[in-house]
Amino acid sequence: MKETALRTLLSEMTLEEKIGQLIQLPGYFQNEGMATGPAGDMGLTQEDLQLAGSYLSIAGAEKTRKLQTDFMANHPHHIPLLFMADIINGYRTVFPIPLAQGCTFDPDTVEAGAAVAASEAAAAGIHVTFSPMADLVRDARWGRVMESPGEDPCLNGRIAAAMVKGYRGKDLKEKGTIGACLKHFAGYGAPEGGRDYNTVELSCRTLKEDYLPAYSAAIKAGCDVVMTSFNTLDRIPSAANDWLLKQVLRREMDFRGMVITDWNALEELLRHGIAADQGEAAFIALRAGVDMDMTSSVYARNLKHLVEEGKIPEAWIDDSAWRVLMLKNKLSLFETPFRDADEKAEKELILCAAHRQAARECAEKSFVLLKNEEKILPLNLTEENIAFIGPYVNNQLLNGAWSVFADDEDTISLKKALLARPETQNTPTAPGCPIHDPEQSVTGFQRPVQPDKTDIENTLKEAVQLARRVKKVVLCLGEHRECTGEAASRGDITLPSCQIRLLNAVAEVNRNIIVVLFSGRPLDIRPLREKAKAILVAWLPGTEGGNAVVRTLSGEYNPGGKLSMCFPYSIGQLPIHYNHLNTGRPYHEEADNGRFFSRYQDIPNEPLYPFGFGLSYTSFAFSPVKLSADRMTRKDRITASVTVTNTGDRAGMETAQLYLRDLAGSVARPVRQLKDFRKVSLNPGESREITFLITEDILKFYNLQMQYVSEPGAFDVFIGPDSRTENGARFMLTE
Ligand code: NOJ
Repeated sequence: MKETALRTLLSEMTLEEKIGQLIQLPGYFQNEGMATGPAGDMGLTQEDLQLAGSYLSIAGAEKTRKLQTDFMANHPHHIPLLFMADIINGYRTVFPIPLAQGCTFDPDTVEAGAAVAASEAAAAGIHVTFSPMADLVRDARWGRVMESPGEDPCLNGRIAAAMVKGYRGKDLKEKGTIGACLKHFAGYGAPEGGRDYNTVELSCRTLKEDYLPAYSAAIKAGCDVVMTSFNTLDRIPSAANDWLLKQVLRREMDFRGMVITDWNALEELLRHGIAADQGEAAFIALRAGVDMDMTSSVYARNLKHLVEEGKIPEAWIDDSAWRVLMLKNKLSLFETPFRDADEKAEKELILCAAHRQAARECAEKSFVLLKNEEKILPLNLTEENIAFIGPYVNNQLLNGAWSVFADDEDTISLKKALLARPETQNTPTAPGCPIHDPEQSVTGFQRPVQPDKTDIENTLKEAVQLARRVKKVVLCLGEHRECTGEAASRGDITLPSCQIRLLNAVAEVNRNIIVVLFSGRPLDIRPLREKAKAILVAWLPGTEGGNAVVRTLSGEYNPGGKLSMCFPYSIGQLPIHYNHLNTGRPYHEEADNGRFFSRYQDIPNEPLYPFGFGLSYTSFAFSPVKLSADRMTRKDRITASVTVTNTGDRAGMETAQLYLRDLAGSVARPVRQLKDFRKVSLNPGESREITFLITEDILKFYNLQMQYVSEPGAFDVFIGPDSRTENGARFMLTE
């Protein structure tokens, strides 16, 4: 529709109709039909339901087409509904969780995965996904680290931007595309103590320098909607934060699209204690620039009387309604209200071979090999005498907590993958233990069945007998998938004690242990490091997880993933991140053994495995860093190059990572920051020169006056295989 026609439409709409556009109803209202039950309890009338702008979490071509048809027929201006849903790491074909996708360090693969998700979701009638989540994460206690691309602003931004591009394609008008909703704006990934929904305390500088860049990258990539976060920043909940939404989001980031709250967040303004009643909440949120109210009744029940009483100018409603209509127009909903919803396309696309292959390849790229002593991996599955033991062997719960539309029956477990291959059809397997301890508390959407204590003993015995008989044991351990995701924070990030008991029991009879670790967060894995010769982190790998793991263990795929979030030494280090400040008393083991350094008495400062770390079945060497010049002005560009050589005996993939350190600034600068990375595939003996560009842009930071500028002085540039690399050179930025 032409913008002038859209303006005319807006001018013809009643106040009630315009307010209706600002309401997003939960999908379960559709099961009720009339405004009774929860809708009635919320005080929503039949008219509220008939004028709503959007529905959340309704999917399926038949369902969305019918709902759209009926709704438009009853709407005074026949304005179509907007269908939004959580398509986080896939619709029905599930990809690895976003934290694992971060470990690919491969935006192209991530973009391709998002495009697959979009095509399936679009066929099911979904218009916009609540993804990407670009929240920076530093605390593995927080259950939602699984939904983030990790701890680094640069990586986080590239992955989030790739997701936006994948969902939206080249043009939103094309088939198979959906809009993208960036979340959770802002700083939701930094709740105190790692407890979900908790208060966030960030200095403005840290917010701007570390937390905002990834959101900004996603906005630049074209995301259509921004979702506010549940947390407070500077004691102001995001849905009520004028500065955040108007100054930062709209002015500084130049975001022109629609802003939506998170679930029921406007009602929560009362519990945050910044609104005395719903009317005040509605006023504060609309003034801050919240366009759409997700699933609360605050806008629906209050905006009309606030306008009529003269407390809110109707122009505010018009502005927000306009942004909703503009989004619908951008999605061509006025011309094609069903968009791609098509039952035939659903059948053809969902879980098709190409989608499964893309999911498998993405999973393989996301696996991180943390340890491989004596080159125990890869395995010769045809000739070696191997057993697969552990609660993750015969387990289809590999999708991650946010795979709300997936069916676990479609997932390839390890057991299924082994059975499908002639050489492993008869490979012995045993569960060894339950996935969690009987007494372990796991709150989630789907409470796991509690195991029986006598069964636990027998299962363990059987596994130990098996482990004794074979040459090598692949131990498949991990957290239950409901241990991460929303509202799944944990005060203990060790493996359940039944799994540690299994590890110890197996280790007593067999020293050749390879652990495959399934989890939605980095865990404290010290016992694994001690007892296992190899550790492969498979995260929650999605629909094709089993096939991807078996192909990787067998060496058909050579792992090259790198940690997007470090594995801490223990929970006492959290929050932890490699790009910290130096402090006035940095601790160096070799420097001094004294007391008055920034350190713990009982644990190291360093994580068990650092950000960017990951091994391969081959080995790589980096040449010293070569700079094209050791001085530059702000107008210059210099290059930093290394030659990477595959020094092992099989083809593999390495990721060259470029880190920068600004040695002295007007405010303290991090010890290093990732600025760029490049993946390179090399055959044995092959070398490749990799050249990175250094421009003023990557030297900038928020200075003393909070201006985003570069400052002259010395910089160290490091290029290597992970965030600990000391392979560096120095250059000066001059006036
Ligand atoms: C709450 C979550 O915080 C958010 O990420 C999600 O998109 C919405 N619910 C909608 O399901």
